Amino acid sequence: MPRLISLSRAAKLVGLSRGALQKRVHNLELESFEGQVKLDDIERIFPDAEIEDNHIIEDLEKIVEQALKKAHGAKLAKLLAPDSYTLAARLRAITKEHAHAKEQVKDFIALFSELETQITQLSTTSDKAYLFEDLNNWMNDAINKIQTPSLTPTHLLEKDTILRVMAAQVHLKNTGHEFFVEGSNSILEAGLSAGLALNYGCSNGNCGKCKAKLISGEIKKIKPHDFVFPESEKAQNYFLCCSNTAITEVEIEADEAGSEKDIPLQKISAKVKKVDKITDELLILNLKTPRTNRLRFLAGQNIILSRGDLPPIELPIASCPCDDMNIQFHIPHDKNNAFINFVVDELKSSDSIQIEGPTGSFILDEDSNNAIIFIAFDTGFAPIKSLIEHAVTLDHAESIHLYWLHADEKPYMHNQCRAWEDALDNFKYQQLQYDNSDISQLDVKLDLLLNEYADFSDKNIYICGAEKMANKTEKVLLDHSANKENIKIQAV
Ligand code: FES
Repeated sequence: MPRLISLSRAAKLVGLSRGALQKRVHNLELESFEGQVKLDDIERIFPDAEIEDNHIIEDLEKIVEQALKKAHGAKLAKLLAPDSYTLAARLRAITKEHAHAKEQVKDFIALFSELETQITQLSTTSDKAYLFEDLNNWMNDAINKIQTPSLTPTHLLEKDTILRVMAAQVHLKNTGHEFFVEGSNSILEAGLSAGLALNYGCSNGNCGKCKAKLISGEIKKIKPHDFVFPESEKAQNYFLCCSNTAITEVEIEADEAGSEKDIPLQKISAKVKKVDKITDELLILNLKTPRTNRLRFLAGQNIILSRGDLPPIELPIASCPCDDMNIQFHIPHDKNNAFINFVVDELKSSDSIQIEGPTGSFILDEDSNNAIIFIAFDTGFAPIKSLIEHAVTLDHAESIHLYWLHADEKPYMHNQCRAWEDALDNFKYQQLQYDNSDISQLDVKLDLLLNEYADFSDKNIYICGAEKMANKTEKVLLDHSANKENIKIQAV
């Protein structure tokens, strides 16, 4: 049953006066049914019309937000809700597709009807009439089956449609990576949140490092930028990922770091956000970079921290590159280290720290889908935490197993690890107390892990801890079928 709407409402939808539409009715370009017109006809005649009635969009936005609140809670609903323009543009794109599909269905129905006529004729005139009669009967049966509405709801199709309204998918032509842009996030923010190492610098429309080429789809500028594209790049649809969001499904060409060599050395003045003294032996330092000068790094890498005349210190980053403004470090209290003593005794919130880097190649093998085993000794957990958060974001690995050996009664981020295990189906967490001064007991302490797998050859293994513990662990695993090429070690 075609949906009818009043001429006034149709005029509002397409941004024309009621009189202009009335004229189309008079000219027989638009069919009228007692003052109403078919919505399908309006869509067909004005495929590119802008939807002017913002109240409709606002109402729809409220409905979507309330539905999401019910399903996911208020916080996520806010996070996911796109702005009204984006919502309208996505709905418009889906409506266009729907109208096109309907037109095609009409054409196919007409084609089948014609075919039926032809076959009916042949079934009376041909010397092989019985064949055409059979064909006709088969076709009628098939058409009847198609016309009987399916009682099975097309859940996937429905979900896919909702997803397309709430989030736009981005395809990276050069690497084949894909991610969704939610709410009014920029393409850069969404790509980084999805764990991709997209090229960028200022995140603020100045440097041009995040430029990408739009191959297909529709984007929208969400903030002004100072960077000026040369005319030749403008003509090729270049845009800034940090200043644009995706309206519809888009395909783009954008640079991504393939290894640590693709990440430039950066020097940033960061502010202390928080210094948490976990025990007398351990503190967690959280730094914040300026919004327009974030730290680009790969999970598992290190950074050099310095302040004034103090000797600088190189530390593994414990946070995820997907949160590039908030950098975390787990620092064992080495009383012989002047920098660490300064952090423990004097450093306070909002103080400045210079950071330089990143360095190191203890990074995830993103080309492999193998199961991953992370083995951490004490604060060797820091880069492992960064790798785990990145691996979880990418969602590539078949499974993740964290094995944490610690000198204290309980590891300092035990609850965090248990939360991962609770939340993720493919995540296993085991922790074991050990004596970090007695390497001879290591074989026994690794038993739990060794008994878990019959074969280590197809596992990617990342080990981080004191050098002698890490090396001994590697040797034990090599003796138990592990493949040397699949093992990465970081000494701390
Ligand atoms: S990151 Fe500098 S312009 Fe986008």
